[in-house]
Amino acid sequence: MIEATLRIWDGIGEVFPPAPETPAAFHSERWLAAQREAVESARAAVGREHPSTMTDTSPLPALLAPLVDRGEPLSVLDFGGGAGALYPTLEDCLPGAAIDLHVVETTAVCALGRELFGADGPTFHDALPSGRFDVVHAASSLHYVADWRGMLARFVALEPRLLVLAGLTAGDIPTFVTHQVYYGARIPVWFFDRRAVIGAMAALGYRLIYRSLLDCPYLGERGPLPMDHFPPSHRLDRKCNLAFAPERPKSRRSLR
Ligand SMILES: C[S@@+](CC[C@H](N)C(=O)[O-])C[C@H]1O[C@@H](n2cnc3c(N)ncnc32)[C@H](O)[C@@H]1O
Repeated sequence: MIEATLRIWDGIGEVFPPAPETPAAFHSERWLAAQREAVESARAAVGREHPSTMTDTSPLPALLAPLVDRGEPLSVLDFGGGAGALYPTLEDCLPGAAIDLHVVETTAVCALGRELFGADGPTFHDALPSGRFDVVHAASSLHYVADWRGMLARFVALEPRLLVLAGLTAGDIPTFVTHQVYYGARIPVWFFDRRAVIGAMAALGYRLIYRSLLDCPYLGERGPLPMDHFPPSHRLDRKCNLAFAPERPKSRRSLR
């Protein structure tokens, strides 16, 4: 039977089903082509007289602005950052800023990013690196992680001064699992009770310092997420952006 309407998400569950760590759809040619296009269009915007990034994207550039002029490059880890489109975006939004961008992605997306940027771009990692980063950013990616609380703990272990969860599928809803339908693939994803995410961060010693709603298009339309087929209790109107800082900032050379 042909569905009358296209559904991006389908079903409600409580248990994240067994799934590969990185969904197979994100290894596909289609996804790689989309990532190539994202980098190319972000690159095309660099150097234009007018800024090109609107506030309907991750608030990361604005949040970084007060942190960049510290004499040393700011290290930023972008979890699930695609082929590195954030790199030219930061270049565009933060003129002259020295940023050491690291992207964590699937092996295939990392290879594409290295091909697109060569040595003059982000460093790509196919697993979360160890060490310390000034900033951790995860845009529209945490909801693919079965153990999302564990991943937040791993982010915090990197001791960031700023942790940004952008495009988070979180709101005044119960936490539940659904499937994102992507050209025939069904990708398990979380929708979160926003308080559960903020509570998990509080338990890790991080407090909420910024919150906003993300206004981005779905199926070509700007507006609420297309979730009319979910019960009202499980409908999320907009994704959100949340940023956190440690309760007690530790002294860090690059952020003095
Ligand atoms: C919806 S895309 C978001 C891309 C980009 N951050 C943005 O906001 O446009 C989600 C990305 O997360 C990546 N991803 C999902 N699970 C991951 C994991 N466990 N490790 C690394 N990357 C992952 C996928 O490969 C995919 O490129």
